[in-house]
Amino acid sequence: MTTLPEIYAAKIAAGELHADDAQEAVLPQFERIRAELAKPVKKGWFRKATPDPVEGLYLWGGVGRGKSMLMDLFVDSLDVPVRRVHFHAFMQEIHEAMHKARKSGVEDAIQPVAKAVAESVRVLAFDEMQITDITDAMIVGRLFEQLFEAGTVVVTTSNRVPDDLYKDGLNRQLFLPFIGLIKERLRVWELVSPVDYRQNRLSGNQVYFVQAGTEARAQIRAIWQDLSGGTADPLVLTIKGRKVELPAFRNGVARATFFDLCSKMLGPGDYLAIADAVKVLILEDIPRLSRHNFNEAKRFVTLIDALYEAKVRLICSAAAEPEMLYVEGEGTFEFERTASRLREMQDAEWGQSD
Ligand SMILES: Nc1ncnc2c1ncn2[C@@H]1O[C@H](COP(=O)(O)OP(=O)(O)OP(=O)(O)O)[C@@H](O)[C@H]1O
Ligand SMILES: [Mg+2]
Repeated sequence: MTTLPEIYAAKIAAGELHADDAQEAVLPQFERIRAELAKPVKKGWFRKATPDPVEGLYLWGGVGRGKSMLMDLFVDSLDVPVRRVHFHAFMQEIHEAMHKARKSGVEDAIQPVAKAVAESVRVLAFDEMQITDITDAMIVGRLFEQLFEAGTVVVTTSNRVPDDLYKDGLNRQLFLPFIGLIKERLRVWELVSPVDYRQNRLSGNQVYFVQAGTEARAQIRAIWQDLSGGTADPLVLTIKGRKVELPAFRNGVARATFFDLCSKMLGPGDYLAIADAVKVLILEDIPRLSRHNFNEAKRFVTLIDALYEAKVRLICSAAAEPEMLYVEGEGTFEFERTASRLREMQDAEWGQSD
């Protein structure tokens, strides 16, 4: 059996990863879980059907430190049924399943939903655990209690220490038991690497492509592959009951076209939510802007403002350099600020967390 430290060392030897002491220090934690999971589940007349509890892992720390990358190594190395899912997407599924259960007359909808999840996997690997929504905050305690009870092992990445989850949220006192549960069932580990590898991978790279056909497209595809590191899923954000979809999302990186984000009826609240949900946005096919697509242009300005404020890294392809994107018609004056921001956001140092 190849261990995680061995897998990690092989990647360093192959030049795929830089050696990082802080990352290396986490590996025994994942390895411990892996070894526990590899043990055969004891079955017998007097034994419970549920396996012995395995302490999970709550890996937190600053952006780009390699949390998701390490968790992916772990997930790929497992032989037991595992589901790797963005936390937000998972919670959305839970709400939908609970809604269905209630419709069919079930009173306590969490119970059958938790049972179905626990039966389908042995390990849940969440990326980016964060709780901002009161409807999530009010059910996670009981949901996870039942998942743990059924023997589900949880590993998760997060940018926050557990005590800061749902910070300043409404009715937070009702949420506190969840924090207690997390600390009880998961080993809490801070990844303190000094390096933001995402920033490193991007700095020095071109991030604004004036469309030159297939070549720019291929370069953007390569950046996307490098940063997302796997198969993407759509990410659906619910904003005031409406759904906004980012067509491709993984590891904090989203990929969409101008059409996806600026040709639909989205407003400032939607763009703020998008900026909040992603760390890097790859936005393709920004056209020339003019009075003919005035509404799209206005939305684009709002989108760039939101991304700029939230320090999201932007990689894009456009029909022209920022200053030449919008040169005639109403709105050109306002666009000057957007053009200047688009310039600034290309800087290698831009958006650095430290
Ligand atoms: N040791 C390393 N050497 C080279 N690249 C690395 C290393 N660790 C991580 N990376 C790369 O850096 C990028 C960011 O890593 P990752 O997505 O795992 O960070 P993260 O800690 O999950 O960040 P966030 O909190 O923003 O989600 C990825 O493309 C990843 O493959
Ligand atoms: Mg991550």
